[in-house]
Amino acid sequence: MPRVLVIHGPNLNLLGQREPGIYGAQTLAQLDASLHTLAAELGAELTCRQSNHEGVILDWIHAAHGTADGIIINPGAYTHTSVAIQDALRAVPVPAIEVHLSNLYRRESLRQVSLSGVACVGVIMGLGTASYHLALRYLVAEHTVRPS
Ligand code: DQA
Repeated sequence: MPRVLVIHGPNLNLLGQREPGIYGAQTLAQLDASLHTLAAELGAELTCRQSNHEGVILDWIHAAHGTADGIIINPGAYTHTSVAIQDALRAVPVPAIEVHLSNLYRRESLRQVSLSGVACVGVIMGLGTASYHLALRYLVAEHTVRPS
């Protein structure tokens, strides 16, 4: 059974109330519940975590080595600033998919650079919560074809 770790970065605890025109009306709890439902359908074991603290996110990425078969990460604003998250993703041999609710290419230029995305096998953005669902489907399918 593939084990997938979902890491939500800063401010994503405010989903549903935070700029709903950009990030949608769903709360983080609703998003996580929908991911758990999909994981059960796909036969995956899922853990969802959220932190507003960069170091905590680093610790979770490190701990994924040996405990997760894939990572789905939305680093929030750290996407655009964190060399440390890029290094952590490179340091562990666990495939990661970066996801974003919004389409960064349609937003301010400061959001059009992803420091973390270059350390991921792929990036899915702009599809709202479906970005996460597609990442989960991909990781489970890949793991089934190429178990680690
Ligand atoms: C985000 C996009 C980031 O630029 C922003 O800082 C976020 C959310 C997204 O999911 O669209 O916090 O990662």
